[in-house]
Amino acid sequence: MFQYLRCRLLLSYLTVMAAVLGTSSIAVYVFVTRSHEQHLNNQLLTLAQAAVPSLKDVKTEGLQSINQDLPWRELFKRDQSLEWFDANGKILARKGKLFSTLPLRRTDQIIQQQGQIRTLTIAVYSDSHSSVVANNLQHLELEGYIRASESTKETEIAIARLIVGLGLGKAIALIFIAIGAVWLTQQALEPIEKSFQRLKEFTADASHELRNPLTAISTAIEVMQSHPERIHPSDAKKLVAIASATEQLISLSEDLLFLARTDAAVAPPAGWKHLYLNEILYNTIELFKPCAREKGITLKLQFIPSILVNGEPTQLKRLFANLIDNAIKYTITGGSVIISMVQQKRCIVVRVEDDGIGIAPEYLPFVFQRFWRADKARSPKTKGLGLGLAIAQTIAHQHGGKITVSSTLGEGSCFQVYLPIA
Ligand SMILES: Nc1ncnc2c1ncn2[C@@H]1O[C@H](COP(=O)(O)OP(=O)(O)O)[C@@H](O)[C@H]1O
Ligand SMILES: [Mg+2]
Repeated sequence: MFQYLRCRLLLSYLTVMAAVLGTSSIAVYVFVTRSHEQHLNNQLLTLAQAAVPSLKDVKTEGLQSINQDLPWRELFKRDQSLEWFDANGKILARKGKLFSTLPLRRTDQIIQQQGQIRTLTIAVYSDSHSSVVANNLQHLELEGYIRASESTKETEIAIARLIVGLGLGKAIALIFIAIGAVWLTQQALEPIEKSFQRLKEFTADASHELRNPLTAISTAIEVMQSHPERIHPSDAKKLVAIASATEQLISLSEDLLFLARTDAAVAPPAGWKHLYLNEILYNTIELFKPCAREKGITLKLQFIPSILVNGEPTQLKRLFANLIDNAIKYTITGGSVIISMVQQKRCIVVRVEDDGIGIAPEYLPFVFQRFWRADKARSPKTKGLGLGLAIAQTIAHQHGGKITVSSTLGEGSCFQVYLPIA
């Protein structure tokens, strides 16, 4: 049980940490790519603006004039290029190696991306009538366009490196977190495991200590009941009630002791041997025949093959006895209980089927829980503590098997015990 808890805790811890790391990596990635882009756009804008004064010269003097204009030449870098256009969008001159083949967009300012080339286009205006600033109106005339381009290859390489770095960092961090998580879960579960262990020991000790006085009471009652003439008639009924309550307490202490001991067991108990399962089933059914007859229930054993399993005979008997007891207990007079056995690969499946009261689908997940009983079964007429199925399941698990249940309310139930073949 603690192994499962440890794995779940570890997995939850790792999932949370991976999510936190993932989110922070994404945040770093978004922040870095945005600032790279911003930087690139600013560079392009500065270059284009620096080239604005040269447009006039390019228009009048042609290509040779661009080699003399200083402001943009100082900013110009290897992977950048500049293009000068007239007001109609006709190319006048170009400088650089990389050019976008996108058609010119004739707007005031626009950024475009084509493959690994980013371009920024700005419109250039000149004052036609120098200043009519009086009424704050300036007549601007479109002179042309400047388009600055830059390769984004280096930025992309830098971002690719960043992704690899973040991925690697995350993987290394996760390895350290996993080591830390193992240690932390160990630390967190140790006290719980210890107190659980103490609780099991306490249950085992308490049930063990209870058994002796209860057996003494039971023996005393038997002795008293063997001399009915000495009992006052008004006390006889009370004595029967005391005897029944004592029996119930003895069986409770035995069940608790069994569960506490099997919970604490690490290795399978000694005394396991190869047994014929059909023999165990025959013997168990024999025990219930009188009870079934008394209740008017047909108890049938379908043809079953001889199959060897490895286990402890008394425990296996107890497992099937609990299932058959339930089947008889929760089936009304005239009903039937059928026990059958089939082989499935390396498993033997024993079916205990009844046409009794059945179990509501919403209750099915709880039937194997300790002390769980369906409301309908809580009537004082049906004796029981709700430990029978828990014990049956514990025994099945101990033998490397399992129990499953299928049931329909009002139609009956079928319990299937899977045990590995020896
Ligand atoms: N064959 C069955 N048919 C209907 N209900 C069942 C059957 N077996 C078990 N149950 C339900 O599961 C509950 C738990 O069973 P169990 O652990 O054997 O406890 P108990 O028999 O002492 O009540 C029962 O109280 C009953 O409600
Ligand atoms: Mg029972």
